[in-house]
Amino acid sequence: MGRHFIVGMTAFLAAVTPLLATGNSNDNYDVDSLVMSQVLADPNAYDFPPVNSNGADLFPMRPCKGFQLWEASIDDLQELLSTSKLTSVDLLQCYLERIYQTDSYLKAIIQHNPDALRIARSMDQERANGRVRGPLHGIPFIVKDNIATKDRMETTAGSWALLGSVVPRDSFVVHKLRKAGALLLGKAALSEWADMRSNNYSEGYSARGGQCRSPYNLTVNPGGSSSGSGVAVGANLIPFAVGTETDGSVINPAQRNAVVGIKPTVGLTSRDGVIPESLNQDTVGCFAKTVRDAVYVLDAIYGVDHRDNATFGQVGKTPKGGYTQFLADKSALQGAVFGLPWESFWALGDSQQIAQLVELIRLLESAGATIINGTELPHYKTVVSPDGWNWDYGSVRGYPNESEYTYIKVDFYNNIKAYLADLNNTNIRSLEDIVQYNKDNLGSEGGYPSIHPAFGSGQDGLEASLASKGIMDETYFQALEFCRRTTREEGIDAALRHGNNNTFIDGLLVPPDVAQSIQAAAQAGYPAITVPAGTNKESGMPYGLAILNTAFSEATLIKWASAIEDLQKSSGTQWQRSLPEWRGYLVRNLPVPF
Ligand SMILES: *[C@@H]1O[C@H](CO)[C@@H](O)[C@H](O)[C@H]1NC(C)=O
Ligand SMILES: *[C@@H]1O[C@H](CO)[C@@H](O)[C@H](O)[C@H]1NC(C)=O
Ligand SMILES: *[C@@H]1O[C@H](CO)[C@@H](O)[C@H](O)[C@H]1NC(C)=O
Ligand SMILES: *[C@@H]1O[C@H](CO)[C@@H](O)[C@H](O)[C@H]1NC(C)=O
Ligand SMILES: *[C@@H]1O[C@H](CO)[C@@H](O)[C@H](O)[C@H]1NC(C)=O
Ligand SMILES: *[C@@H]1O[C@H](CO)[C@@H](O)[C@H](O)[C@H]1NC(C)=O
Ligand SMILES: *[C@@H]1O[C@H](CO)[C@@H](O)[C@H](O)[C@H]1NC(C)=O
Repeated sequence: MGRHFIVGMTAFLAAVTPLLATGNSNDNYDVDSLVMSQVLADPNAYDFPPVNSNGADLFPMRPCKGFQLWEASIDDLQELLSTSKLTSVDLLQCYLERIYQTDSYLKAIIQHNPDALRIARSMDQERANGRVRGPLHGIPFIVKDNIATKDRMETTAGSWALLGSVVPRDSFVVHKLRKAGALLLGKAALSEWADMRSNNYSEGYSARGGQCRSPYNLTVNPGGSSSGSGVAVGANLIPFAVGTETDGSVINPAQRNAVVGIKPTVGLTSRDGVIPESLNQDTVGCFAKTVRDAVYVLDAIYGVDHRDNATFGQVGKTPKGGYTQFLADKSALQGAVFGLPWESFWALGDSQQIAQLVELIRLLESAGATIINGTELPHYKTVVSPDGWNWDYGSVRGYPNESEYTYIKVDFYNNIKAYLADLNNTNIRSLEDIVQYNKDNLGSEGGYPSIHPAFGSGQDGLEASLASKGIMDETYFQALEFCRRTTREEGIDAALRHGNNNTFIDGLLVPPDVAQSIQAAAQAGYPAITVPAGTNKESGMPYGLAILNTAFSEATLIKWASAIEDLQKSSGTQWQRSLPEWRGYLVRNLPVPF
């Protein structure tokens, strides 16, 4: 390893020597302090791990004015801010340096906010004037690139087709985060069009953002479609992030990057200003390293928005004073009753991962929880695909009128048209225009199959939606009714009714890496939360433990997730969040395997 490094340096010196030879002696090379202040003396400490090295000590985060922000919680950061040890300008600078250090490897950030420094100064000024807006005041964050920001940044869902388009206003959630005093650092990379575009594709890839990679193993699927949101929080590039989910896109990248993900009930967070997939299932969710941090974000973004009718569904179902009051410690687990839908989901998991998760389940029991094995979704044999996530499983069974994809592709056709109608400064007005753009720019946007390595099947997802013409026929309504019924009252709710005398238990524990479990919550429009629960031995990729419950049960989910997290931390179990190992950090395979 050392030898290669020296060979590299010799080549470097050989390359620059001719520039110095004209008139000056080589001695002049190191006397100019201005020049030398720009030259890196010890490349290996932070930025260039010696080749063939590996492990969690690669790419350590530089201290921030002497303070180590690695794994810092939002409360830790507020403590530094409130005692004037650091300013928001400092925080911004230090997280930017973290991004500069790692982004050639991870590509988690698709665009930086050119106004971030000015905003950070205003936040410091407000704090100095005695106004602190709340726990997010001055804390940097990123949002997925399908969430509109009315500023100098683009909102494109990773597609070149929307470059230059001007959004009418901030999305509701970004508006709320700005009001909460949070500092928008930039936009997160994602799977293009949030995975609507293709059925065979490289997860985490977008034409505009390139291939986003997980710091745990850069050679595999980093989780998606909110890939950059999960990766950036997992790698400590940012304290928190916001993403969107239609079917798995918050929980999956959260669990694959060892962070907490909250996917709220459809209707708790407004989709106004979110590039849509399906208003029947889209929801905006949170990524953070701890449950408490994620709840700070949820508290900032939920609420009724007259521009999104679904948000009226939350009226009377949200707690006064927000969700932090439900944060609990492990003592809450005494007497809790959880169900394992074993045959529905657990039996489909990787056996080693499931065995590790069961050790964590045993730990919950030792903390006083009762586990009921076999709380199945009544229709699981019919509705759960036995071989991996498949949102067209109904059609695979021969029943398009019982398939999620049947209504999603119709919804996308209609919902994207409505989104595009509100944009200024673009010629892209319909799905027809998007599909044509991808054909006209096939080299970058892979408009046909087998042209672009990241888009193996071209844009078959967009074309399937196009073929539907957005027609809401009988098949559409049958499919919507079927998917809702078999995941709601005849699904998750029925599985929860396993307590004594037909009462509801406290939640269903599921392995979110078995994506069909999260899919049930997605089709139901029900919430889900995942906490980091360990890593897979072979890949080094993390996985989570998720909790499902009924509509608007976020308070309950937060209570149990925080109790489990406290148990993990206080017991010192290995089945909790661990730091990235940067496996395969020099590999640039495309596509990444699933
Ligand atoms: C779109 O642009 C026109 C002309 O520049 C402007 O008058 C209008 O207010 C813009 N609309 C929105 C929604 O930004
Ligand atoms: C909300 O519902 C009303 C009445 O059904 C409808 O007219 C309006 O278009 C809806 N708004 C949105 C944003 O869906
Ligand atoms: C749950 O029950 C199944 C049999 O139905 C069994 O294979 C599995 O090991 C049980 N899991 C736990 C955690 O007890
Ligand atoms: C995905 O597309 C690529 C390129 O066309 C092809 O080689 C591969 O077999 C496809 N994978 C599946 C699962 O269809
Ligand atoms: C779907 O169509 C089949 C006939 O092809 C019918 O038997 C079934 O009941 C339909 N499903 C729903 C949910 O309507
Ligand atoms: C079940 O209901 C019966 C009748 O209401 C009651 O006597 C019994 O205590 C209940 N059992 C439990 C475990 O709650
Ligand atoms: C990354 O994960 C893949 C898939 O499990 C595995 O084959 C590979 O060995 C892992 N890379 C490293 C460097 O461990």
